[in-house]
Amino acid sequence: MGNQQGSFLTAIDIGSAKTCAFMAEFTEAGLRYRGHGIAESRGSRKGVIVELDKAVASIQKAVEAAEDVAGAPVEHAIIGIGGAHIRGVNTHGGISLGTRPHEIGRDEIKQAVERARAIPLPADREILHLLPQEFILDEQAGIHDPLGMMAARLEVRVHMVTAATSATQNVITAVNKAGVHVDDTVFEPLAAADSVLRSDERELGVCLADIGAGSTELIIFQQGAVAWTGVIPVGGDHFTSDLSVGLCTPLSEAEKIKKIFGNAIVTLIPEGNEVEVPSVGDRPSRLMPQRLIAEILEPRARELFEMMRDTLRQSGMFDMCIAGMVLTGGASRLPGIFDVAESVLRRSVRLSWPAPLAKMPSTLSEPEFATVLGMANYGHRARIARGQQEDRWGTRLKALLVGKGA
Ligand SMILES: Nc1ncnc2c1ncn2[C@@H]1O[C@H](COP(=O)(O)OP(=O)(O)OP(=O)(O)O)[C@@H](O)[C@H]1O
Ligand SMILES: [Mg+2]
Repeated sequence: MGNQQGSFLTAIDIGSAKTCAFMAEFTEAGLRYRGHGIAESRGSRKGVIVELDKAVASIQKAVEAAEDVAGAPVEHAIIGIGGAHIRGVNTHGGISLGTRPHEIGRDEIKQAVERARAIPLPADREILHLLPQEFILDEQAGIHDPLGMMAARLEVRVHMVTAATSATQNVITAVNKAGVHVDDTVFEPLAAADSVLRSDERELGVCLADIGAGSTELIIFQQGAVAWTGVIPVGGDHFTSDLSVGLCTPLSEAEKIKKIFGNAIVTLIPEGNEVEVPSVGDRPSRLMPQRLIAEILEPRARELFEMMRDTLRQSGMFDMCIAGMVLTGGASRLPGIFDVAESVLRRSVRLSWPAPLAKMPSTLSEPEFATVLGMANYGHRARIARGQQEDRWGTRLKALLVGKGA
């Protein structure tokens, strides 16, 4: 089956709640769905591996299920990196091309970007992405692609995303131990943006919030480029644990109750509705007002969007989001969360469903799969770019295992 690997692409999203392996095939008409597998995430929390063996087993389970559907082995994959250890910073660099204007080639662009990355980085951090925002040619700003243009000086503004080296390496190690070679790593919301944001939103200025289980990851686009990234350490798990404590019920029951009866707006629940709530220990279950569930969830939802608003204000990014906010990730499915987001942020907010691939089951067109689908799109574009650029600049393939040929 090794010969098929060239036309196949696998993305693995190791989330706090679920691990998903997604296989697609390159065809002349674009990417086509071939298979997927989902396993409950064990051994990983908030983007960090806490128990290696359990994380490896979850990855293996998801990968094997995907292989069964696709009828092909998974040897290589793109993996997602996320969590509170991620940092984003805007930097700037440039090179002189001589006293007279010079034609700008790929090497010059590469050198200018290299200068922008030359800022001191603590030993425990590594660069995940260098995302050019704009090029400046002899003080003329706002240039997206300077290739072939003339200038005496080339400067570039770059958004640099860094990650804790150990956190990234442990995720890579877990995937390797599950028998899969890691071709590339991608910051999760950057991938999710690929499957849910429209190009006019990216131009005007938009904030994508991926509300997962362990954290909420933010990415802002403006003028088509990444302007800012950040992470808020609150996700769907916090809503569940609030319910578990508030209703005095086990976490697993709180999770079910949240998904079936949850709402982030108290007044959307009719008075008089009652829900059976299991108890802990041997105590009998109780009937409780459904409004109580929303009374617990609403403050947590407000807090999440207040944290988001304050973080964006402090970083000077809030006013950039002219096209508003887009919510994705599993926790964005909580009914009423959209209304809370609009009332706290006072921006237009939309929920997002990822664009489906040909032949893909409709069950995958849900917000929690935006990241893995975006990773497949990202891999597709990287492969096209690689085909176009013989020197491979612009793609960041990380061949960790020798002999499996990226
Ligand atoms: N219908 C729903 N209502 C409320 N919450 C939901 C619903 N469906 C899923 N969730 C929540 O979404 C979260 C899982 O989302 P997702 O699959 O995007 O997370 P993840 O990618 O595994 O985690 P992370 O991105 O934080 O690492 C869980 O907290 C789950 O309770
Ligand atoms: Mg996620």
